[in-house]
Amino acid sequence: MNIQNKVAIVTGGCSGLGLATAIMLSEQGAHVHVFDIQEKSEALERLHTVTYHQVDVTNEEHVRKAIDAIIIADKALHICINCAGIAPAAKVYGKSGVMSLDLFKKTIEINLIGTFNVLRLAIEKMVLNEAIDSQDKGIIINTASIAAFEGQIGQAAYAASKGGVASLALPLARDLARENIRVNTIAPGLFETPMMAGMPEKALKSLQNMPEYPKRLGLPEDYAFTVKYLIESTYVNAECIRLDAATRLPAK
Ligand SMILES: NC(=O)c1ccc[n+]([C@@H]2O[C@H](COP(=O)([O-])OP(=O)(O)OC[C@H]3O[C@@H](n4cnc5c(N)ncnc54)[C@H](O)[C@@H]3O)[C@@H](O)[C@H]2O)c1
Repeated sequence: MNIQNKVAIVTGGCSGLGLATAIMLSEQGAHVHVFDIQEKSEALERLHTVTYHQVDVTNEEHVRKAIDAIIIADKALHICINCAGIAPAAKVYGKSGVMSLDLFKKTIEINLIGTFNVLRLAIEKMVLNEAIDSQDKGIIINTASIAAFEGQIGQAAYAASKGGVASLALPLARDLARENIRVNTIAPGLFETPMMAGMPEKALKSLQNMPEYPKRLGLPEDYAFTVKYLIESTYVNAECIRLDAATRLPAK
């Protein structure tokens, strides 16, 4: 798929990986719509070509309303990139007892159900696109994590949510094959974003050492570059790309 003039949603686009993706898509000539629960960030405020919608991805009504607004403004929808997510840490059993069920539910609700909610309503519009020859009508890219495969201590909820995201791609790609819609997943390793910024200096230093090569945290631009590749490479479907510089997470 050629990005120029396509219409795109980026969830979680106020920050980190989603923000870099919104910038890349906008630079490539797409009409970009950011869905985020937080108020329009300063960085996004400077991007005059991007439309911001305050949306909680778990809320069906919010997502429907925002997608309807996109169709009114841009007449179609081709690209859906799901970056919205949270990464709480809690052991299933620790000093303060057993993990709260609410924390587990909230993590699944935002990371997995929120992703599914947005993509299913996006698909409803993508199927209406005209597919000339064997061109894509649409593409969906979801964000898992290498924690889906190597969840660390304290990551039971996060790993379960991301494992669900990683498992979605194949059945969705099969369901949507007749509609010329592709579904892919990126599983990032350790990336330098506001999600990481809250970490203690010592923990951050040890994380920086984990990638084999290049020996650095991933940059949001590395993620956006992979999104571009996945959109443009029509033969890649139902794939989960580890974007991690050969990082393999230990237990802690
Ligand atoms: N940073 C990393 O190292 C890393 C590694 C692996 C996976 N990931 C995943 O990548 C994605 C992006 O992470 P990031 O590092 O850019 O984080 P980030 O915190 O910078 O950005 C996440 C964005 O999601 C938004 N968001 C949260 N809940 C939402 C909701 N209910 N509705 C709408 N928006 C919501 C936040 O407001 C924020 O703008 C997440 O899914 C995360 O789990 C990140």
